[in-house]
Amino acid sequence: MEVYDAMRARTSVRAYAQTPVSADSLERILESGRISPSAMNYQPWHFIVVKDLEKRKAMSKARYAGFLKEAPVVIVGCGDKKRSPEWHVVDTTIALQNMVMTATAEGLGTCWIGSFDENLIRNILKIPDHLAVVALLAVGHSRKKLDLMAALAKSKSRKRISEVASYEEFGLAEKRA
Ligand SMILES: Cc1cc2nc3c(=O)[nH]c(=O)nc-3n(C[C@H](O)[C@H](O)[C@H](O)COP(=O)(O)O)c2cc1C
Repeated sequence: MEVYDAMRARTSVRAYAQTPVSADSLERILESGRISPSAMNYQPWHFIVVKDLEKRKAMSKARYAGFLKEAPVVIVGCGDKKRSPEWHVVDTTIALQNMVMTATAEGLGTCWIGSFDENLIRNILKIPDHLAVVALLAVGHSRKKLDLMAALAKSKSRKRISEVASYEEFGLAEKRA
């Protein structure tokens, strides 16, 4: 799948089938994180793959994270604040989004989770102090048919380009020749 098509096809999935994520797909997803860019190439991240149901149930307690108990894989993105105090959040976020796009190209659904209790996650997964929990990703096969072509055609509920981008200076529209 072309990157642009994957961008258009991606949508947050909150209902998952119990089909496991293949080892090959998971490897490609993690590899996409591993090779991501980072400031000074510090790679200030660590990704914890959680499949265990009891752990996922415990992590799903947050308000908008109930479906974590259904998603067969949860990837917990941690940023190394000691290694890169300034950029660990940005770098880890980039790596996680690259994983999202690879998962999409693999035909998998994903959802970012920002709704989590950091202390709870730290305790469940025994995360050391130098790592901050940046975000979680739910990954799995969508329970509803993930019709990529339909998703492609779906008009996204987004601001218009003119509201979010300017040319040459803030607020200027593109000059057409
Ligand atoms: C940083 C971040 C945190 C998010 N946290 C949650 C969350 O805790 N629970 C949830 O259901 N969706 C969460 N989302 C998904 C957004 O609600 C979703 O991306 C947005 O509504 C746009 O919809 P789309 O992803 O289907 O295009 C999060 C997305 C991002 C980028």
